Amino acid sequence: MKILVTGAAGQLGTAIVDEFGRDHTVVARGRSQLDIADREQVLGLAQDVRPDVIINCAAYNNVDGAEDDPEGALRINAFGVRCVAEAARSVAALLVHYGTDFVFDGEGSRPYLEHDPPNPRSAYAISKLLGEWFARDARRHYLLRVESLFGGRAARSSVDRIITALEAGQQTRVFTDRTVSPSYVRDVASATRALIEGGADLGVYHCVNSGSVTWYELAREVARLLGVEPKLDPVPVAQVILRAARPKYCVLSNEKLLRAGVKMPPWQDALRRYLRERRTRTG
Ligand SMILES: NC(=O)c1ccc[n+]([C@@H]2O[C@H](COP(=O)([O-])OP(=O)(O)OC[C@H]3O[C@@H](n4cnc5c(N)ncnc54)[C@H](OP(=O)(O)O)[C@@H]3O)[C@@H](O)[C@H]2O)c1
Repeated sequence: MKILVTGAAGQLGTAIVDEFGRDHTVVARGRSQLDIADREQVLGLAQDVRPDVIINCAAYNNVDGAEDDPEGALRINAFGVRCVAEAARSVAALLVHYGTDFVFDGEGSRPYLEHDPPNPRSAYAISKLLGEWFARDARRHYLLRVESLFGGRAARSSVDRIITALEAGQQTRVFTDRTVSPSYVRDVASATRALIEGGADLGVYHCVNSGSVTWYELAREVARLLGVEPKLDPVPVAQVILRAARPKYCVLSNEKLLRAGVKMPPWQDALRRYLRERRTRTG
């Protein structure tokens, strides 16, 4: 298959390029080569490449920044996706796009299912929900909701911030009352591939590592795996002034993905593999 990857230099983008590059022809475009919000450019590239699949990893992910720059977030997360979906449709390509747990308000008490009603609480979350809707413009599409991504080469996730601080023996602030299902980019990339190659039903899937954890518990597990003292500053979300609202309970259910034959490893296992990957990378 020929796969066009947009936003290819990001956390997930690099993992997608690695995963598909092993057995497929990958055309990778980072932001400097392709602005997904430039309709002519996106449509033109699709005509030149004629991909079987377009995997869109481009996004505006500055959750707090979006409160002051909603136009910037909408340009990429909503209208950029509309351009990519139109391009996919124009060449009859399958579109894969990624959504977020932030489309939910986080007031739930059981893992969110794909059809639970969204209730976005921030400019970022609204822009991502619009992107989900625009992704449907492609005739065939998978929308995979992920959350708390970690593991890209850029190493700029919250998990990386915790690892780096703990390795340096620095105190790090962690939320005690935000519960998440972290997602290792390599596992998300491999699940994406399994869905496509397995010809799973099209539509929305939650795609996170299995299990759930608060940021405080996750940081303690990182410290345990690193064999360092957990120098942590545990705080409830309400104690920290943030521009954008954070959903408190963001656990996503992988049940639908499992029914499609794709099993996600537990987050603890993902974390262990990622720490090993980081060690290999730094030598
Ligand atoms: N990170 C998370 O925790 C998280 C959580 C939930 C959902 N997601 C979703 O998962 C997907 C992958 O996220 P990620 O963590 O891999 O994001 P990322 O590391 O921020 O990568 C996104 C990439 O998109 C690029 N980009 C930004 N604007 C663009 C544009 N107009 N045209 C083309 N490329 C553009 C960025 O370039 P620059 O770096 O130069 O801006 C960056 O390389 C996204 O849909 C994201 O919303 C992520």
